[in-house]
This record gives sequence, C-alpha cells and structure tokens, in this order.
Amino acid sequence: MTTSNMSMSTDTPRAFPKNFLWGAATAAYQIEGAAAGDGRGPSVWDDLCKQPGRIWEGHTGDVACDHYHRWREDVALMREIGLQAYRFSISWPRVIPGGTGASNEKGLAFYDRLIDALLAAGIQPWVTLNHWDYPLALHRRGGWLNPESPHWFSEYTELVAKRHGDRVAGWFTHNEPQCFIGVGLQEGRHAPGLRLGISDVLAAAHHTLLAHGLSVQALRARARRDARIGWAPIAHVHVPATDSAADVAAAKRACFTIESDFMKNNTWWSDPVYLGRYPDDGLARFAPHLPKITDADMRTICQPLDFCGLNIYTAERLVRDSGDGGGRAVTVPEPPGFPMTHMRGTVHPESLYHGARFFHERYKLPVLITENGISCADWIALDGRVHDPNRIDFLARYLREFSRAGRDGVPVAGYFHWSLLDNFEWAQGFQHRFGLVHVDMQTQKRTLKDSARWYSEIIRTNGGGL
Ligand code: FCB
Repeated sequence: MTTSNMSMSTDTPRAFPKNFLWGAATAAYQIEGAAAGDGRGPSVWDDLCKQPGRIWEGHTGDVACDHYHRWREDVALMREIGLQAYRFSISWPRVIPGGTGASNEKGLAFYDRLIDALLAAGIQPWVTLNHWDYPLALHRRGGWLNPESPHWFSEYTELVAKRHGDRVAGWFTHNEPQCFIGVGLQEGRHAPGLRLGISDVLAAAHHTLLAHGLSVQALRARARRDARIGWAPIAHVHVPATDSAADVAAAKRACFTIESDFMKNNTWWSDPVYLGRYPDDGLARFAPHLPKITDADMRTICQPLDFCGLNIYTAERLVRDSGDGGGRAVTVPEPPGFPMTHMRGTVHPESLYHGARFFHERYKLPVLITENGISCADWIALDGRVHDPNRIDFLARYLREFSRAGRDGVPVAGYFHWSLLDNFEWAQGFQHRFGLVHVDMQTQKRTLKDSARWYSEIIRTNGGGL
C-alpha cells in the first residue's frame, strides 16, 4: 500500500471515534410540501407565507421538495450517499391538526412509512419534535405565551413517542429556540411574526424550556430505552483571534455571557437545560421583566440528556482579550475580502473546534453537531452534474476542526450535515441551496452534487480522507 492510498484507507487510524455517527438533516416545513394534504392543519409558517412581503419573492412551503410524496426516492438517495443517520422533523400540525386533541392517522402513518423505510435502508431515524412549524390553532390560543403551552407540547410528544418511539434512535425536542422565540416572537422576521416586549418574550422562553423538560420526561417514559435524547440549539460561538490563552479565555467568556436583550444567546437557554439554573448575568439584566420562576420549574427543565447538540454555521465574532486585566472580549473585525457563503455568513471553520470545546467544558456532555453546512450558488452544469467545490472545501475545513476537538479530548458523537436537500429557507424562500442533493424546484428532479459523493467517501472512511 502506498502512502497516498493509505490516507483514504479504512484501516488507518480514524480521524473520528469508531462509533461516530454520520448523518444529514432536514425539517418538515422546508421539504415536505403537501401543506394541506391528508388532513394536515396549518402552522404559523403557512400563515406567515400568506402575508404579502414576508417571504422573499412570495415563496411558500406549500410544495417545497414534495418530500411527502417523494420520500421513497429521498430515502434511496440517502442510502446511495451512505448516511448512517437522518435527522428530520415531525410536523406537529400534520399529526395533530389542531395542536391538541384529535390526532391525524394519515399524518402518523406517513412518518411510520418513512421510519420503516429508513430502517430498511440501514439508516437510523433521528426525530426533531419542534422545527418551527407550530400549529396555528395553538398560536391563536396564545402560543408559547400560554402557561398551558408546555403541556400541549408534552401531549404531542406522548403521541409521537407512543407511535414511533419503538423505532426512533434519537430525539431532539426543540430546534434553535433562540430563533423561533428571538426571530419569531421578538424580531418578527420569522413566524409567527410578532414583536413582543421583553417580559412577554421571557415568559414565552420560559414556557419553551418547560416544554423541553416535560417532553424529555415523556420520551424517557415512552421511547426506546436506548434512544438518545437532547435538543438542537444554535451555538453562538465567539472565536479567539489568536491561540493565546488570554484570547481563548476571552472568547469562551463571551460565549457564555448575555450581551444584549435579544434572545439569541447561549446561556439563557442552555444553562437551565444542562445546569438547572438561569445565568446570574441574565437574571440581573432581565430582573424587572422576569416571569415567575420556581425551583420546581427548574427541576422540570433540567432533565438528564445524552448529548450536547449544537447547530454551528459560523462564528458570532472574532475576539481578543482586552488586555487591561478586565477580561473583556474585544471584537476584531474580519479583514476585507474575508470568505463568505452565498447567505453572507463568514466562513469560520474553527467555530466547530472552539464551539465543541467550550460547550463540552461547560456542560460536560458528548458533542453532537446537529447542523452545519453552507449555501452555495449551485446549478446543473453543462455536463449534467452539480459541481460544488466550495461546499466540499467548507466541509473539509469544518470537519477537520471538529476532529481536532476530538483529538484534544472532546467526546465527539456525530455530525448531521445541513441539509440533505436544497429546500425552503424560511423567510429567504428558495434563494439558498444548502443540499448535498440539488433539487430542481420546477420539476422536483433530484441530482446528487459532487459534495454528496465526497461526503459518501468521508462516511465510508470515517473521516479518514479529510
Ligand atoms: C438553521 C435552521 C435550519 C436551516 C439552516 C440553514 O438556522 O435550523 O432549518 O434553515 O439554519
């Protein structure tokens, strides 16, 4: 064996641990379509999409990737890529059209078929319960502001866990609560499009956390005993401008500091979930606006979890230590011409290293990357293929950093690429392509991109080819 083919061999020392899980992710509203099909009820996203001017070019998720009808083909593509796990979300209003009460057998049967097909293809099903398509009927009853809302979520969890829990390998309660509360209820850019004051936002956030806790309890009671349970918050990672201990410490402190009233932060969400308490700086900052928070609430919110899930795409800020002994993180602007994705996110591969490390050091759990990926200006080339070298390079750089975290002692559990398919990118409509698989939105034709073939090889060699 020559040195060059040794680097791609499956029996070289692994870049990732033996049981590392390789997957890809999607979300129901972004891919399923069939918005009114088979008894599905409306979600807040269906409603927002109807409001003029809310979504880029008036796009909607009415059809999206038509995955509701094309799931067989999509599972076949996953198999072709060699995915070991698939993270998808269940549409709450598809299985309980009114949010509470009567369930929809056709909706539940759809997820049964999908789960069974995944298992038959040797792919572990990992389910997100709340990837933002909240039932419109519940929104009309106050949504996350209603003190009953945690119980609605737990009732929904019970139904799904009872029905699918014998086959699902992993569970996520909420996806990016910072976004559906921060961007949906506070900034109003996402569904349900509200601009609530801080007291209401904090009350909704507290109910969201209680819902997480009750949902984990329901999953532990009903799901397979070996199912892995957690959630998928976004990680706002501040990265150090240099490797100096002072800059690394400043970046880590910034990660775990509440820097504004905006709900997009790490600790207000993750400290209660993993540590059973709200962070002191947040309690001080929000003191006049806090809802009633009891010890019993905190016990409900803080359930034992199996992993620390992180959605990481970029770094929040590049920082250095202030150097004045005060330990402040000073922003270092990215130089002109810094690499950017099609979505105008900066490319910061080291966010996967520092993010994994900082979160593991604080919360002591194995780290699962629940989303990471890049939007590129992909199209079908004259040769009929989709060449996406930027995505391949982006993934190689980020995965190398994640494996470096592993070598430096962080238990790295797995990686879900966002996304399997090009899909409906929320308020930005179909202007972004995040998929390993190109989707022609007019014909629904699927084409594996070069990155999908590259990712197959990474999976086959457990990262050996990185
Ligand atoms: C994340 C969302 C996911 C997708 C990616 C690009 O914030 O969780 O649904 O939109 O961004």
